[in-house]
Amino acid sequence: MAGLVLDGKKIATQIETELAVEVADFVENNGYSPTLAAVLVGDDPASAVYVRNKGLACDRVGIDSKMHRLPAETGEEELLELIATLNADENVNGILVQLPLPPQIRASRILDAVHPLKDVDCFHAENVGLLVQGRPRYLPCTPHGVLQIIDRSGLSVAGKHCVVVGRSDIVGKPITTLLAAKDSPVGPNCCNATVTMCHSRTADLAAITRTADVIVAAIGQPKFIKAHMVKPGAIVIDVGINRTDAGMCGDVDYDAVREVASAITPVPRGVGPLTVVMLMHNTLSAARCQLT
Ligand code: GUN
Repeated sequence: MAGLVLDGKKIATQIETELAVEVADFVENNGYSPTLAAVLVGDDPASAVYVRNKGLACDRVGIDSKMHRLPAETGEEELLELIATLNADENVNGILVQLPLPPQIRASRILDAVHPLKDVDCFHAENVGLLVQGRPRYLPCTPHGVLQIIDRSGLSVAGKHCVVVGRSDIVGKPITTLLAAKDSPVGPNCCNATVTMCHSRTADLAAITRTADVIVAAIGQPKFIKAHMVKPGAIVIDVGINRTDAGMCGDVDYDAVREVASAITPVPRGVGPLTVVMLMHNTLSAARCQLT
């Protein structure tokens, strides 16, 4: 029997509805709306879509958003100046610098320049350190979205073998940390897993993924996880968003893997909508952190 489809869009809408109430409460108590500044450098079409979707989500939950578009040839110093201005602006609670940045700009320099309290992506070294130590200030958006899908679908990873495929700073590393943690801000079903992180140099990847109760695919390659790599009954979370000539697809060969898995996230309408709503969550948290 084909696996249960985990509808990320529906879960994101639920969380958005809850957040809109919390944002309205914040506005009533403080007299202003939480505010997100989004920075987009260059004209990568996918990044432009993501940033636009984040702005639209802000509108839906009552968060103010300000968009800063810079040309592709922007230099590091110029971008650092903008970050310094946004850091100093008390009307800005959250700063999002959309990645990837053009090659002349070192992302680590930019991300570490964002004030840690305004770092709603949780990319700053201080916030990553706090996360790894088990006392997170913010949760990174996509990994947090994965936890919300698991929790709100009534699933659990506790005591299970999770295999994360991919070692990126944005998804692979933080989701590995969160799933293996002793406690989870999302609740007892989203931690205490035994986690294996695999990557492009892993020997016999399929032998490892076939031992997984839960697979988190964050590789960035279309339909990379095939049915023979999945143990019957496994839960499969697809974090990939790949744009191919045939349209958008994830890192999982969805139609074939769905026949083997007990539950699976689709692409689109899977993890993607959660990433956006968790950014809204972090912007509200940031505004609360900055109350004087
Ligand atoms: N590029 C891909 N994913 C993300 C994300 O979660 N945040 C930012 N800022 N850029 C990204």
